[in-house]
Amino acid sequence: MNILIINGPNLNLLGKRDKNQYGDLTLEKINHIIETTFVEIHFGFFQSNIEGEIIDRIQTSPQQYDAIVINPAGYSHTSVAIRDALEIIKIPKIEVHLSNIYSRESFREKSITGSVCDGVITGLRETSYLAAIYSIKTLVIRKTMSAIT
Ligand code: DQA
Repeated sequence: MNILIINGPNLNLLGKRDKNQYGDLTLEKINHIIETTFVEIHFGFFQSNIEGEIIDRIQTSPQQYDAIVINPAGYSHTSVAIRDALEIIKIPKIEVHLSNIYSRESFREKSITGSVCDGVITGLRETSYLAAIYSIKTLVIRKTMSAIT
């Protein structure tokens, strides 16, 4: 199984950002935890601060990957274009947030991008990614089974 992990703007600076919201792990450390927790899965990791690059990566993902886990970061609350790209691709996708977007400023409560994902996991720090991967494995297996039967 191949899963693409996409991280949006400023997540390259994890470790330096507000530790109360995001914890103290760097993105490299989170990616390492992901790889060592799910050794049976092949992961691609992509981070960008640029909206168009994220859209390009989403558009090409079905050629190489069975599913996407995405943290669109600040774009979650603003990007109709990333939302539309996610809606177009027909592989399972789960949105994650390190912080609990419902317990922060009101402008973070609405996720435009989350509305077209199969689910959203928010507030569990790096465990949000692990919970999303665990769940998306089930979605991929279910999809494969229904294609066979
Ligand atoms: C975030 C939450 C967003 O509101 C914020 O802009 C981020 C990170 C999270 O993972 O908690 O950059 O997506």
